[in-house]
Amino acid sequence: MTSTFDLAGSLAVVTGASRGIGAGIALGLARAGADVVGVSRTGGDAEVAEAIRALGREYHSLSADLATLEGAHELVARLDELGRPVDILINNAGIAERAPAEEHTDRQWEHVVAVNLTAPFTLARELGARMLARGRGRIIFLASMMTFQGGRSVVSYAATKSGVAGVVHALANEWAGRGVNVNAIAPGYIETDLTSGSHADPERRQAFIERIPAGRWGTPDDLAGAAVFLSSPAGSYVHGVVLPVDGGWLVR
Ligand SMILES: NC(=O)c1ccc[n+]([C@@H]2O[C@H](COP(=O)([O-])OP(=O)(O)OC[C@H]3O[C@@H](n4cnc5c(N)ncnc54)[C@H](OP(=O)(O)O)[C@@H]3O)[C@@H](O)[C@H]2O)c1
Repeated sequence: MTSTFDLAGSLAVVTGASRGIGAGIALGLARAGADVVGVSRTGGDAEVAEAIRALGREYHSLSADLATLEGAHELVARLDELGRPVDILINNAGIAERAPAEEHTDRQWEHVVAVNLTAPFTLARELGARMLARGRGRIIFLASMMTFQGGRSVVSYAATKSGVAGVVHALANEWAGRGVNVNAIAPGYIETDLTSGSHADPERRQAFIERIPAGRWGTPDDLAGAAVFLSSPAGSYVHGVVLPVDGGWLVR
C-alpha cells in the first residue's frame, strides 16, 4: 500500500538547500522519496548532495542569486531546461539584516525584501503557473515567529515574514480549487548560521531555552516532517496555513 506521506517520483525544488533549514528539509523530502533540485547562492551544497544521492535519489545543484529578479528568472529558465516538471517548491532561502529600526538602511531593507519576499513570490508565480497548467503542485514558504511578532532590530525581516503570510493567503485563495496547495511553515528558534548570534552565546542560548516550552533549540531536521506532510497526499486538503514548528514558543 502506498504511504500517504510518500513522495516517490516527485521533483522538489528547495531554495537555500546548502545549509541550515533548507538542507534539513531537502534531506527529509528525499527520505520520503522525492528527487531534489537544491538551489543556493554559492553552490556550497556538496554535503547535502552526497547525503541525498546516498539515499538513491537524484540531486541537481543549481546556483542562483535570489537577491535579484534576474537571478530568480534565470533559475526558472534553468529549471525548465531540466525537462522535468517541478511538483514541489520550497521557498526557503532567506536572510536577516540586523539594525535598530531608526538605523535600518535603505540597502538593508531592499536586500531583505528582495531575498525574503520578492524572489519567493516570483518563483511561486512562475512555477505556480506551470503547476496550475498541470492541475497539481505544492508550494511551501518559510515564515517565522516574526510573522506573528515584531522582534528587535529586524524590522525588514519582520515585514517580509508578515508579507509571506499575506502572499500565502492570497495564492491559496486563488489556487486551492485548481490543484495547487500553498502553505507556509513558521519555524521557531532553530540552530543555524542565521541564528548563531543567539545560540553561540551561552547566556543568550540558555535564555531562549528557558522561554521555549519544549526546553531546547530546534534543529533543521525538526522542520522535515512538516515539509513532508505539506508536500504529500496527506496534506492534500490543507491550504493557506502558516504552520508553527516552534517547540511551543507562540503559546508561552
Ligand atoms: N533559523 C531559524 O531560527 C529560522 C527561524 C524562522 C524562519 N527561518 C527561515 O528559514 C529559512 C532558512 O533559514 P536558515 O536559518 O536555514 O538560514 P541559513 O542557515 O543562513 O541558510 C540560508 C540559505 O539561504 C541561501 N541564500 C541566502 N541568500 C541567498 C541568495 N541571495 N540567493 C540564493 N540563496 C541564498 C543560502 O545559500 P548560501 O549557502 O549559498 O549562502 C543558504 O542556503 C529562511 O527563510 C529563514 O528566514 C529561520
